[in-house]
Amino acid sequence: MTATSSPVPAPPAVAAGAHAAAPRPLRAHRAAALSGTLDVPGDKSISHRALMFGALATGRTTITGLLEGEDVLGTARILKQLGAGLDRHDDGTWEVRGRGVGGLTAPTDALDFGNAGTGTRLMMGILAGHAFASALAGDASLSKRPMGRVLAPLREMGAVTHDDADRLPLTFQGRDDLVPITYTLPVASAQVKSAVLLAGLHARGITTVIEREPTRDHTERMLRYFGAEVRVDDASDGARHIAVTGPGALSGRAVAVPGDPSSAAFPIAAALCVPGSQISVRNVLINETRTGLYTTLREMGGAIAFENEREAGGERVADITVKASALRGVTVPAERAPTMIDEYPMLAVIAACAEGETVMHGLGELKVKESDRLAATAAGLAANGVAARVEGDTLVVSGGGPDGIPGGGCVATHLDHRIAMAFLVMGLFARAPVDVDDASMIATSFPAFEPLMRALGATFTSPDGTADPAAAGGA
Ligand code: S3P
Repeated sequence: MTATSSPVPAPPAVAAGAHAAAPRPLRAHRAAALSGTLDVPGDKSISHRALMFGALATGRTTITGLLEGEDVLGTARILKQLGAGLDRHDDGTWEVRGRGVGGLTAPTDALDFGNAGTGTRLMMGILAGHAFASALAGDASLSKRPMGRVLAPLREMGAVTHDDADRLPLTFQGRDDLVPITYTLPVASAQVKSAVLLAGLHARGITTVIEREPTRDHTERMLRYFGAEVRVDDASDGARHIAVTGPGALSGRAVAVPGDPSSAAFPIAAALCVPGSQISVRNVLINETRTGLYTTLREMGGAIAFENEREAGGERVADITVKASALRGVTVPAERAPTMIDEYPMLAVIAACAEGETVMHGLGELKVKESDRLAATAAGLAANGVAARVEGDTLVVSGGGPDGIPGGGCVATHLDHRIAMAFLVMGLFARAPVDVDDASMIATSFPAFEPLMRALGATFTSPDGTADPAAAGGA
């Protein structure tokens, strides 16, 4: 069934994507003790999935706490282009009127995914099960990211692209008679797992994904919650087999999106490293496939407490309280990487204010995120006088203690929101201010980052020292 040649046309030229706007440099200044209680925005992974599964369900899905960042709003826009009904009510609740599994309709214009890898790869799984062609595009960062890892299994199931494309822009042709497969993930990627499961939801029979290392499990949890038949078995060799029976049927549900632990990482890191700080972050997702950073920070000596642990919308959540702590370097094992993959830029900055070396193994996947995060993190550390080295897929940071970061550098963010936020946080405890060349991308995942950090006591200005114009009105 694998398609080797195809009648699918090359994609039309599309506009540059969401981020052609001028970059917005920003400077972070050394802060006095941070304090306060805050809510971080909804989890990005769960937000994308809630919208998508709502669009594939019959009936009405209501979503509270949705992350209203550019990546997720892009997914909402795309689902509308594909015929789903979506509305945002005045109280912030989103309502999705789904089309049923396989019921989306052909778009008339190209689908622009902006900066969003999750949006693109999960939607490819869904589009695979629809017998129409779509032109897919993204911004300069997304257009460099590998799509072959998703396209390879989807091609095995019967989807077709205009050639052997493995980068955006591309034209993607789905079909309504996909073949179910058993697929062993060659990389630890929840996006690849999810794309295959979503295509499997549309195929006739059982599609199984085998993962050797557990990755975030929101797709399997939420598919079940929406009524799909999903089986998860732990094999004797330690691998996890996730099987979906297709064609599945989903029914509209109420989804409460918990706070994003990957966004909470930034204020928590700031509070750990700025002397005298104490903060609380309410309602954060603590699903164990996402909490590797918190395990690591505790090993480093961080005073981090999960309080009021509870179940909300099928996920574990807690309020996280953090106090500034004397940190020591640790070795972070490779097997922990999938549970904290988005948090390494922040951890590397925290490691710079710990005593001794922090060794982070198994970072190969960091090279294919919104930027090459391994290189961008190492370069940002070097620009601010921190000794760090990359050895293959390992990053080693030599920490100088609480007052050991010289700062004073300008960090190249490469259209990467997490690089921007990690180094702005560094500026709060470095000896000299830290600049980032572009803070605009932060809006993709954490639009309220700056006002929330300011409310805790952070100061950001434009690099010429004037107040940041975006701060007026609490941008
Ligand atoms: C995500 C999976 C991870 C993560 C990304 C969100 C998801 O990517 O980095 O931010 O929602 O499934 P990979 O699956 O490529 O590791």
